[in-house]
Amino acid sequence: MLLVTCLVLVGVSSTLGLDNGLAKTPPMGWLTWERFRCITDCKKYPDECISENLIKRTADFMVSEGYLDAGYEYLGIDDCWLEKKRGPDGRIVPDKERFPNGMKAVADYIHSKGLKFGMYEDYGNLTCAGYPGVLGNERLDIQTFVDWEIDYLKLDGCYIDPMAMDEGYPAFGKMLNETGRQILYSCSWPAYQEPENIHPNYESIAEHCNLWRNWDDIEDSWSSLTSIMNWFGDNQDRLAKHAGPGHWNDPDMLLIGNFGLTIDQARVQMAVWAVLAAPLLMSTDLTTIRPEFKEILLNKDIIAVNQDPMGKQGLRVWKKTGRGSRARLEIWNRELHDDSFALAFVSQRDDGIPYAAEFSFEEMSLPQADYEVYDLYKDEKQRYLKSNEDFGVRINPSGVKFYKFVPKSKVEKSHSSRVATIDAVVNAVLNKD
Ligand SMILES: *[C@@H]1O[C@H](CO)[C@@H](O)[C@H](O)[C@H]1NC(C)=O
Ligand SMILES: *[C@@H]1O[C@H](CO)[C@@H](O)[C@H](O)[C@H]1NC(C)=O
Repeated sequence: MLLVTCLVLVGVSSTLGLDNGLAKTPPMGWLTWERFRCITDCKKYPDECISENLIKRTADFMVSEGYLDAGYEYLGIDDCWLEKKRGPDGRIVPDKERFPNGMKAVADYIHSKGLKFGMYEDYGNLTCAGYPGVLGNERLDIQTFVDWEIDYLKLDGCYIDPMAMDEGYPAFGKMLNETGRQILYSCSWPAYQEPENIHPNYESIAEHCNLWRNWDDIEDSWSSLTSIMNWFGDNQDRLAKHAGPGHWNDPDMLLIGNFGLTIDQARVQMAVWAVLAAPLLMSTDLTTIRPEFKEILLNKDIIAVNQDPMGKQGLRVWKKTGRGSRARLEIWNRELHDDSFALAFVSQRDDGIPYAAEFSFEEMSLPQADYEVYDLYKDEKQRYLKSNEDFGVRINPSGVKFYKFVPKSKVEKSHSSRVATIDAVVNAVLNKD
């Protein structure tokens, strides 16, 4: 046991990763893209266009509705904030009608609320939506961002050769670092290489980026959500080991609160994103979100799983595919810093049939022990699982059951007196041999 512990520690400390003091746990915040896209017509869509208005309104709600308190601290603008042409001094310029007071004013407002400011650019000639990219103006644009006091930069990868990214993204990161301003660096680097079958150099990516999009943009549907989950599960042996404090895989934004997911499906995304140690970036209208969805986004116990300080990305440990894709069932398991485990039992069945089954410790990839089991969505009472029993689960169609398994020994320790705790520690140390 002691030997195993030592090996694990060595494994963790030898992982190289970006060391800019940021993203020790997966970043949490809000981003415009998935919900508000590239809506630029403020006359037709005054509440939805990418504008100072939208950002200020969202900042207000992030604070007043408890999102900031829950950990969502970054407020980010994605594409479509720019004028189509650079200014006479060569600088990028925010759209003059939609950001009439400039970007520094937006940043000041966001900071005055205790939030942090995220911005978007693209490493190529143009952004994906056709606005000026940074290529050829990297230093000037970074200086502009520093002048605006941004805290987070998502650097997309349209209009650039994916082969050039292995040098380009690190070079840009070095320039960011040299400004001395702490700016969280979100790279889209592997997301443009994976589909081209160029093997992304994840060692280098984790060394230069705080987070990185690996795969497709998420869209507002159950089929998009499950295809991304499946891709992360199928490729976990390559991906999971590169995640850790300071550097994270990013399966993309949370759809929760929008149009395409039911409540059960929204719960699936929140649970699986927590297991994946994924950035939690909402993209929804916080002024009109239904309370059932808001409750999912603000679930403290699930956020705690996502933000677990050990920072170990969880795995899809079991799956069963029935006839067609309709009966797909899976277990996702994340080990937490306090020897407990978060397990998501997901049913991808969309044929309306609920699922019930018993699972063995082996199927759950759970170390044999007695556990107290807590339903993180709080539909069920606390349960006890003995080391010689199977664990019974019922899951709604296209739904999830998400539990925390706390070893009984841990529970007793935390409930007993100080002396007893010391005894337990001594025993635990003795038992290791
Ligand atoms: C960027 O634009 C310049 C000038 O039009 C062009 O020469 C260059 O090939 C473009 N680069 C890419 C990667 O498209
Ligand atoms: C720049 O990089 C060094 C070395 O990794 C790191 O210690 C420092 O915190 C970084 N500074 C900023 C502002 O990111």
